[in-house]
Amino acid sequence: MTTSAPRALGTTLPPVFPIGLGCMGMSEFYGASNDTESLATLAHALDLGVALFDTADTYGLGANEALLGRFIADGGPDRRARMVLATKFGIVRQAGQYERRIDNSPAYIRSACEASLKRLGVDEIDLYYCHRRDPAVPIEDVVGAMAALVRAGKVRALGLSEVSANTLRRAHAVHPIAALQTEYSLWSREPEDQLLPLCAKQDTAFVAYSPLGRAFLTGQLDPAALSTQDFRAHNPRFQGTAAAANAQLVERLSALAKSWGVTNAQLALAWLLIKQPHAIAIPGTRRIARLEENIGAARVTLSPEQMTQIEAVFAPAAVQGKRYPQAGWAGIETATQDR
Ligand SMILES: NC(=O)c1ccc[n+]([C@@H]2O[C@H](COP(=O)([O-])OP(=O)(O)OC[C@H]3O[C@@H](n4cnc5c(N)ncnc54)[C@H](OP(=O)(O)O)[C@@H]3O)[C@@H](O)[C@H]2O)c1
Repeated sequence: MTTSAPRALGTTLPPVFPIGLGCMGMSEFYGASNDTESLATLAHALDLGVALFDTADTYGLGANEALLGRFIADGGPDRRARMVLATKFGIVRQAGQYERRIDNSPAYIRSACEASLKRLGVDEIDLYYCHRRDPAVPIEDVVGAMAALVRAGKVRALGLSEVSANTLRRAHAVHPIAALQTEYSLWSREPEDQLLPLCAKQDTAFVAYSPLGRAFLTGQLDPAALSTQDFRAHNPRFQGTAAAANAQLVERLSALAKSWGVTNAQLALAWLLIKQPHAIAIPGTRRIARLEENIGAARVTLSPEQMTQIEAVFAPAAVQGKRYPQAGWAGIETATQDR
């Protein structure tokens, strides 16, 4: 089974190639930015058939949306028409700080949307996500404010990120939720219990972020070499004994990948897309060669036996360390939490 056929992204957006492009790392979190290289990678992604481009207002405090805005402006209406442009609101940070507060108030949602439209240089956002939940605002009010943006022609479809199954169900009762975006990969399997089945049931696409484990799964990253400016240096999974234990799992993944003639990144993405027929993966890269490698995952076939072998390496209990540092948990609902 290959996975190159387009996948649904809710019911009002066009189906998209199952591998999108995560743009976050082009502007923040994973080391130095190079806008020239990023713009070339964005253009190449479109040429390869990638449709879903993922950004957020908080990435680079607007810089990532501005980069996409420049890309869209450079390519004109034809380029814009070929893109499904996704962005997010809700995380409020000060320059140079990772710590955040979450704002889901209707007035904030309206102003954040206007600011994103301006930076992106577009009339309409294709997919607008609530990035994190502010428990002080009922989800019905949040989705109500987002639905008003759809009626006003500023947004085409709605999404949520890192919410519980209960929140997703309640939100979908107010307005169709086209996509749930949550971390999912070989080392982050929590959505399998409730969220992935619920998404399939209610025609909500599951958009898997950090599908390469923020590069850890690729076997190309040395956690000890990360600068303190890099977000991953502060992520428990990349630190000390947890990193060492996780590296042993990646070594075993590398051995499988080598024997099957694919790369770790391709194996991680192919596993995800074969396991979850309703999921869309959005690996992030700034580099054309890696983009091509990652897109190549859609041509990789894996037998049920190979899937079992991969999962035997990444048994959930074998993965060590939380996926976020303390400050990163703000606004994240666990899969079963009711808010
Ligand atoms: N909703 C949320 O809360 C949330 C949170 C995090 C991320 N996201 C979204 O999800 C997207 C993807 O997640 P992510 O960027 O955190 O993690 P990811 O896709 O798992 O990994 C990205 C990292 O892997 C490296 N990489 C990519 N392809 C590679 C390859 N073939 N071989 C070796 N290294 C490779 C990239 O480096 P180079 O760039 O140097 O290639 C980058 O450091 C983000 O861009 C963002 O749009 C959403």
